[in-house]
Amino acid sequence: MTKITAAISAVGKYVPDYVLTNKELESYVDTNDEWITSRTGIKERRILKGEGLGTSFMAIKAAEDLIQKSNISPEEIDMVIVATATPDLPVAATAAYVASQIGAINAFSYDLQAACSSFLYGMSTASSYIESGRYKKVLLIGADKMSSIIDYNDRATCIIFGDGAGAALFEPNTEGFGLQDEFLRSDGVGRDFLRIEAGGSIMPPSLETVKANKHYVYQEGRTVFKYAVSNMADVSEKMLTRNNLKEEDIQWLVPHQANKRIIEATANRVGVGPEKVMMNIHKYGNTTSATLPLLLADYENQLKKGDNLIFAAFGGGFTWGAIYLKWAYNS
Ligand code: UT7
Repeated sequence: MTKITAAISAVGKYVPDYVLTNKELESYVDTNDEWITSRTGIKERRILKGEGLGTSFMAIKAAEDLIQKSNISPEEIDMVIVATATPDLPVAATAAYVASQIGAINAFSYDLQAACSSFLYGMSTASSYIESGRYKKVLLIGADKMSSIIDYNDRATCIIFGDGAGAALFEPNTEGFGLQDEFLRSDGVGRDFLRIEAGGSIMPPSLETVKANKHYVYQEGRTVFKYAVSNMADVSEKMLTRNNLKEEDIQWLVPHQANKRIIEATANRVGVGPEKVMMNIHKYGNTTSATLPLLLADYENQLKKGDNLIFAAFGGGFTWGAIYLKWAYNS
């Protein structure tokens, strides 16, 4: 029997129009363009403005972009996964609403939350459903409205994050393209260093939690940085060694966009030059679950059938990992 692999057959994206520059941030907190650029690589990010617009707004737009470009009919989609740390509502699955809005009337859908690793883990989930033969079209969307959980008085976090969404369609492939290998990890030690303290089951929302600013992202940047650098580099290197890949076999490194310095450290360990590293952190900042699919959409025109891609991510929890995928089409 021919082996079924899970290949990405189409991508789409959406970023909001509003551009939040380093200059504008200088008017909110004690920071400056030189510090932000040299410490993170970020020049600007996109922010979703507009009353009542949540993560689903961007997820729908990214999915519609993919559907329009790929010419598939939404009724053919079997499953919609929304990878997100900022769902529209605490309980009702954002994915269910997104699926209905895009016309995926035959799909079942749910959200997947693993902070900045959500999309990477979602790639594993989507691929497993395809490889099992149970479903034929799984739409994975990474979307986050980070501006909804950021304190714009906290210079340690407000300079980093932005809003956006990206989508990828997973389909069966019998030529060997698609996901080849994965190495995913987590360590609960991380929740002291990157989290939102209130609003969950440990500390439900109250007047006091709101007054104490406990509903915003808190990050101990230096500690997270150290874990991110070593873990992203370790797992990426592991993908190469256990698949007998040399630097010249890799066409693209697709790293989570948290900090340019983390990306460069990972690239150095893998041994690839900057021309092989996908990067858009300068224009979008860290969009959490959306960084990886936004990269795919931005670089789609440069990708060729058979290209070897190494994905790597690190995020809250801690959660992290790497995936080796063979690109399946020329655009
Ligand atoms: O995607 C999920 C995972 N997240 C990450 O991977 C993020 C990992 N962490 C980072 O990217 C970096 O730690 C940050 C970008 C958050 C911070 O950069 P850093 O080089 O680790 O800075 P730091 O926190 O060690 O602070 C260095 C100095 C401090 O001043 P002193 O104590 O040396 O006088 C800070 O107070 O920079 C100061 N500082 C700032 N200065 C200007 C901190 N934030 C700012 C700022 N503007 N926004």
